[in-house]
Amino acid sequence: MRLWLGITWIYAGWNKATDAGFLTQGSTSFIGTQLNAYSTQSPLGTTVFNKLVEHSVQVGLFVMISEFAIGLATLLWVAPTLAAFGGFTMSVGLWLASSFHVKPYFLASDTAYAVLWISYLLLILGKRPKADISINRRGAVRVGIVGALAIGAVSLGKLFTSSNSPTSSSNGTSKNKVKKLADLPIGSTANFALASGEPAILFRTKTGVFAYSAICPHQGCTVGYSATNKVLACPCHGAEFDPFNSAKVIAGPAQSSLASIKVAIDGDWIVLA
Ligand code: FES
Repeated sequence: MRLWLGITWIYAGWNKATDAGFLTQGSTSFIGTQLNAYSTQSPLGTTVFNKLVEHSVQVGLFVMISEFAIGLATLLWVAPTLAAFGGFTMSVGLWLASSFHVKPYFLASDTAYAVLWISYLLLILGKRPKADISINRRGAVRVGIVGALAIGAVSLGKLFTSSNSPTSSSNGTSKNKVKKLADLPIGSTANFALASGEPAILFRTKTGVFAYSAICPHQGCTVGYSATNKVLACPCHGAEFDPFNSAKVIAGPAQSSLASIKVAIDGDWIVLA
């Protein structure tokens, strides 16, 4: 169990460290895009994720370093209790963020890992006379070494980055169905997600349909439509965009418009053009 968990966590870190898009805004695998996608489905709610999205790169680095550190510490038996608790916490966090709604539940691997980590943690604690989790000076040095190794592994991964991380085209395939025309009356809007998970917002007016990415160009939070003010507003720092004028900035710190997404009416459907 220790071998499996340790190797899996190191592999998870390596997988991210060698992904050229993981820390690159605009990539389909960008951590900010993933967080945005989680925000639409997680029971933790959009507020939590908008805060994380504001610091996407830092969150991405933290996740990578943590995965390496937990994996290495588990394999090398350095602060094993702390590592097991970290693995359990991370698995629960991933479950709440990304696989909470997976049905049937047993297809969500995060739950299985959470159970594995908690079992492993209880086994460790069970073998200790007084559940002693204190770390002496020597232990602290070993923890420091594992931390340094984890940071080194992230840097090493950057030397092996794969170039097969496609950047977001924001429109998927040519005839992707977005919504049934009948379900979007003139004057209404609808949220939807691109294949990459990127949140987007769709409008229908008398003249046709149009859509924008819902990712704020300032720091990547998810914007929402205010029907009262007729603006797309960002909850993080107050940027506002005019959806009826190419989503141009009308207020706040954002410097550029929301990205436009090409949509068209095709028979009974609104599709990605
Ligand atoms: S993320 Fe700062 S205004 Fe939207």
